[in-house]
Amino acid sequence: MTSLTENKSKRIFLSAPHMSGREMEYIKQAFDSNYIAPVGPQLTQFEELFREKTGFEHCVAVANGTSAIHLMLRSIGIKAGDLVIASTMTFIGSVCGATYLGADLAFIDCDRETWNMDPNLLEAEIKELLKKGVKPAAVLPTDNYGQACDLDRILEICQPHGIPVVCDCAETMGTRYKDRHTGKGATAAAFSFNGNKIITTSGGGVVASDDGKLVDYARHLATQARQPGLQYEHHEVGYNYRLSNILAALGLAQFEVLEERVARKRAIYDLYVKKLNDVPGITFMPEADYGKGNRWLTAALIDDKVFGTGPQGVIDALEADNIEARPVWFPMHLQKVFSHCRVAGGEVAESIHRQGVCLPSGTSMSDADVSRICGIIRATYKK
Ligand SMILES: Cc1ncc(COP(=O)(O)O)c(C=O)c1O
Repeated sequence: MTSLTENKSKRIFLSAPHMSGREMEYIKQAFDSNYIAPVGPQLTQFEELFREKTGFEHCVAVANGTSAIHLMLRSIGIKAGDLVIASTMTFIGSVCGATYLGADLAFIDCDRETWNMDPNLLEAEIKELLKKGVKPAAVLPTDNYGQACDLDRILEICQPHGIPVVCDCAETMGTRYKDRHTGKGATAAAFSFNGNKIITTSGGGVVASDDGKLVDYARHLATQARQPGLQYEHHEVGYNYRLSNILAALGLAQFEVLEERVARKRAIYDLYVKKLNDVPGITFMPEADYGKGNRWLTAALIDDKVFGTGPQGVIDALEADNIEARPVWFPMHLQKVFSHCRVAGGEVAESIHRQGVCLPSGTSMSDADVSRICGIIRATYKK
């Protein structure tokens, strides 16, 4: 592999797409058979592979993770006026679906140990809402930066009240929670295959569930809710959300290297920790003992009082060398657009946002690239 350090002008991205080398072969097969359409054999194979890799019994592949979450929420019956409880520490794509459906949102803080939804806060929030006579229509936790949320604890809290749990697993393809894939055990889960994800279809997503009826309904909605037969008959309004067969072909080659990519992401995290562990003021996102994350992005906290500068100083120093780094998620409860929403806690997400930086984590980076990045970060200390 050519090291990017050999060409300093070449930008290092946060998490660039990393091709396996067989993508064009599968895309060519799709072209040669003229399946240049949203459905075709490659799409069917992509869904088969997804089920094989994750253990979900059913799935439907769609245009992206945002549409997968939208579709998942609609498929469990979320409608205008419902309340959906979501993570505040997340990307907006996690909660767009609820707003598209006219539902209200309430946010739950994360905990410091996992950076995911704090189950204790969730429990207290549900109790309080029920006391007020408000029953949440769904709980939607995000798995952040490749780490699983504590799904069993969340299920324990929600199931006695009949509240469905649907997971935003956009970032956790290949992540294990206990002895299973992330999202397994929830009513449904949504995944992203965006270009920056651990494996990609350029743009793509999946709704997965062990409930066949739910997935059949999601598939129906994703194809304009068209009734069987030729005459374009509709009993409700759906979406044009199916993943293109061409992009699914790309995904077939990506699935072949999933385990390799997880191993490389984890090795990149380990290398960052090894090279920066002794720098005062830098700590890394912890890993919960209940799972094995895919370490989609290596995220670190920078204590500016100790380190001398905060995340922005590190981001700027890397940018000066044509290297992309980003702050961690800007919490949803701080977003202007959600300023009217309830939030339980919020201080942990705010503090992680203030101190957090996502470091370049693309699997095509060499160890020398990571070392160079660490050298720049080290040189920023007390500068
Ligand atoms: C946590 C989270 N949720 C949802 C999404 C939306 O996925 P997509 O970009 O495929 O629409 C993303 C990815 O960008 C994400 O990181």
